[in-house]
Amino acid sequence: MKEAQQKHLWWQESVIYQIYPRSFQDSNGDGVGDLRGIISRLNYLQWLGIDAIWISPIYPSPMADFGYDISDYTGVHPLFGTLDDFDELLQEVHARGMKLILDLVPNHTSDQHPWFLESRSSRDNPKRDWYLWYDAKEDGSVPNNWLSVFGGSAWEWDEKTQQYYYHAFLKEQPDLNWRNPEVQQAMLDVMRFWLDKGVDGFRVDVMWHMIKDKQLRDNPPNPNYTPNMATYEQLVPAYSTDQPEVHQIVRMMRQVLDSYHERMMIGEIYLPIDKLMTYYGTDNSGAHLPFNFLLLSLPWDAAQIASTIGQYEGALPTGGWPNWVLGNHDQPRITSRVGKSQARVAAMLLLTLRGTPTIYYGDEIGMRDVAIPPEEVQDPQGLNMPDLYLSRDPSRTPMQWNDQANGGFSESKPWLRLPDNYRRLNVQAQEQDPYSMLSLYRKLLKLRHEEPALNIGTYVPVPPEGQVLSFIRQHESQRFLIVLNLSHRPVFFKPRNLSCRGRIAIATYPEREGEAFNNSTSLAGDEGLVIRLEEA
Ligand code: GLC
Repeated sequence: MKEAQQKHLWWQESVIYQIYPRSFQDSNGDGVGDLRGIISRLNYLQWLGIDAIWISPIYPSPMADFGYDISDYTGVHPLFGTLDDFDELLQEVHARGMKLILDLVPNHTSDQHPWFLESRSSRDNPKRDWYLWYDAKEDGSVPNNWLSVFGGSAWEWDEKTQQYYYHAFLKEQPDLNWRNPEVQQAMLDVMRFWLDKGVDGFRVDVMWHMIKDKQLRDNPPNPNYTPNMATYEQLVPAYSTDQPEVHQIVRMMRQVLDSYHERMMIGEIYLPIDKLMTYYGTDNSGAHLPFNFLLLSLPWDAAQIASTIGQYEGALPTGGWPNWVLGNHDQPRITSRVGKSQARVAAMLLLTLRGTPTIYYGDEIGMRDVAIPPEEVQDPQGLNMPDLYLSRDPSRTPMQWNDQANGGFSESKPWLRLPDNYRRLNVQAQEQDPYSMLSLYRKLLKLRHEEPALNIGTYVPVPPEGQVLSFIRQHESQRFLIVLNLSHRPVFFKPRNLSCRGRIAIATYPEREGEAFNNSTSLAGDEGLVIRLEEA
């Protein structure tokens, strides 16, 4: 066991936990979470069994996009604390044997970043070419038809210098010109700044956006567009994203990481499987983990999920390590998508699949999307397209720690409201309850850490039957059979072409733990089982 595990790097054996810092723990009573708050909760994460923490941006920012609009890449926003607080956080994380992954947002800065202020000051400013400035067409219109993800045109007119600049997101988030070597060097230096401090890796924001077509060709119309979709979906972003040259940039970033000891890079990439795979880079020269968001958009259907897992596994390049995600700060929460009971099955899936899982804060207690009244909406995506209900606030609400005021998150009114039921649904209430979601997560994490089969073992699919999704994880002679009922109705499971015996190690309904398994079993609706098989 030791020998086999030594071949794997820490991030392959890890379970990552995403913290949205505004909402994790407030330590100074301003209603917004901060670094000292995170420090105060590290013991909880350690108790839970987390190996690595990824924190969404903590840098100085006007907060037009809640930190994804950065005005200083090597500082800490006063809301979150100071660089000293950061150093202490890093030290405390490492003292617990955990790793810290920062969010890197290289595609765009804030429009208040000194680089952009300079760039926009005059056409001949040395930093003019750091951003994407273009002339209007002859009739004064925008340079091409590219759209902003957050609605409207992606071009903003600058009155003073009489040119347009490109912004894939808000106009307060101008895109950098990554073809400019000075930009490349500046951002690689940012990476070095944090790596020198000892940060273990980066989650790279919108990696597939970083280079755009040099000729600025129009994006083609999306034949699948319907009016209930965001306006951005009107076009296929064929020329504004996923350009071949992006891989050179990713490789440069990887080289910086490789010049340090065992640092890693996750890429945020929303692309189909074949394209996603290219971000591993030729001979693994790209991202260590191009985020796999397949489970976020697939219908919750056993056949489709089984087939997609197979496609993903099959498409991985040699040496490419898989990873899985059930939620993040841009997506509806899993509990709201599939329901409270089925979310337990989803947790079992996430934590038994092959590859590094990332848990979104609060999912471990079954937090749901919180209804935010229109007058309290904060997210620009929600505010810009009010009729489409695209606000990401519902999945960004404060962590529910206990039954005290504001769920123990803050002494003051939090920046986003908590749900009415937080007094019942919180960490404290679930800690001692063996039937809670939190106990299930903890058990799954523990077993995953103890059993190489579940951690680094191979993945062997069992053909899906109805709504039962099943697979085997194996390492040497150790095998686990995972059986997940993705429906709310009871089913009978008897795998074809497979004969095995074992004992239930973890069940979503814990009463069944310890029960013998002999080749077939009934499953209640929303039931999932992790079965330790007898040695073959
Ligand atoms: C990424 C982030 C998202 C942000 C966007 C623009 O998708 O996850 O929260 O709004 O990039 O930076």
